[in-house]
Amino acid sequence: MDKFVIRGGEPLVGTVRVSGAKNAALPAMAAAILTEEPVILENIPDVRDIQTERRLLEAMGGEVELGYGRAHHRTTICMRNLAAPEASYEIVKTMRASTLVLGPLVARTGRARVSLPGGCAIGARPIDLHIKGLEQLGAKITVEHGYVEAAADRLKGGEIVFDKITVTGTEDLMMAAALADGQTVMQNCAREPEVADLAALLNKMGARIEGAGSATLRIQGVPKLKGARHRIIPDRIEAGTFIVAAALTGGDLIIANCDPRHLTFTNKLQECGVKISHTGDSVRIQGDNPLQGCDMTTEEFPGFPTDMQAQFMALATQAEGSSIITENIFENRFMHAGELVRMGANIKIEGRRAIVRGKTPLSAAAVLASDLRASASLVLAGLVADGETIIDRVYHIDRGYERIEEKLRAVGAAIRRIGEMLPKRPALVGS
Ligand code: EPZ
Repeated sequence: MDKFVIRGGEPLVGTVRVSGAKNAALPAMAAAILTEEPVILENIPDVRDIQTERRLLEAMGGEVELGYGRAHHRTTICMRNLAAPEASYEIVKTMRASTLVLGPLVARTGRARVSLPGGCAIGARPIDLHIKGLEQLGAKITVEHGYVEAAADRLKGGEIVFDKITVTGTEDLMMAAALADGQTVMQNCAREPEVADLAALLNKMGARIEGAGSATLRIQGVPKLKGARHRIIPDRIEAGTFIVAAALTGGDLIIANCDPRHLTFTNKLQECGVKISHTGDSVRIQGDNPLQGCDMTTEEFPGFPTDMQAQFMALATQAEGSSIITENIFENRFMHAGELVRMGANIKIEGRRAIVRGKTPLSAAAVLASDLRASASLVLAGLVADGETIIDRVYHIDRGYERIEEKLRAVGAAIRRIGEMLPKRPALVGS
């Protein structure tokens, strides 16, 4: 298992390019199930979850040509042959977003067998709202032996009101309703840019979806969808991670190929003293401003994203004063706090609240990544810690960040990836 070794203290200077959004690419790849024709997707990020999605679609009989190294990472997916409308536990257990194939499979083939995702490091994360929505579109659903079995001759348009705002729930049912008979109205939908990007792709495929990006979606079902070409939006969370990296290291960084309209969390970062300016498809961070603590609560878009909470916590450790962080979306998303405390941070957890008192100098240590965004916060802490931080289990970060160590090194960070070959650390580092 790879590790990162980071020597702190180097300011980040230069330009870093943001990749395509993992959370837009995954539903877009699943959308290819809805048609027999090829779907061409550009700007697909080269991250491990995309490889998992490729395996998932190929296991069903699909053809997936990932275009890394080609212009725009142009990727072609053809799901003409859909021999096995199934998502096995082997794959779903490695990536919950695999459940996004449930709606498209039953809409296209009339049946689907999808493993329940099981528990997750950051929370229970059930898919009950996906199932309930499909039943409201007329699917017969049974759940047994850890699998959801869905069947319907043809889904029927209907009314869906989500009990809770769910991103992949909105995406899954939007895809299902696109091929349903009649109109579907979905309310209390997620408004994330990734949802609107998926609707844009589906409309290019011949769907009739209105209201994407708002809380109410109107979908006029059509009998058939066609192939299309679509460019995936940039990754706003990757952009946010680099913004915090520049602010923490006192650098001067341009973050290019992002969409400033999606970076709704920058107002909170500015409140902490981060100097941000926008030009076209890039933002510039001049990190010479002192940071001051401020309170933050995670919310659905356009509120402060939970996927930036861990990175915000790393920033708060280097801000004067206290910051109260309230995690509203997931019930167990403070795994990174204990590791940051190992590096010298002053953080107290009280249920869904974390009280961070700063500014405390961080000292390098051996730390353990527990999930994708937690590992990003440890990389950020390593960039400002005194000495060499060793982050274990970086496979978590590879799931959603495209070669982050190379991108950071290109703008001055002292970071390298090491494989398992190296001997174990001497005991004094504390095993
Ligand atoms: C998406 O997950 C993202 N993943 C997550 O990003 C992100 O953290 C999350 O949205 C919130 O923004 C992808 O897009 C692939 P939800 P999703 O359904 O859709 C509860 C990352 O780091 N809920 O919006 O799974 C759920 O438990 C990942 O890139 C139900 O109760 O999240 C949570 O408390 C992590 N029943 C809340 O709703 C359901 O059927 C929001 O979850 C569905 C969700």
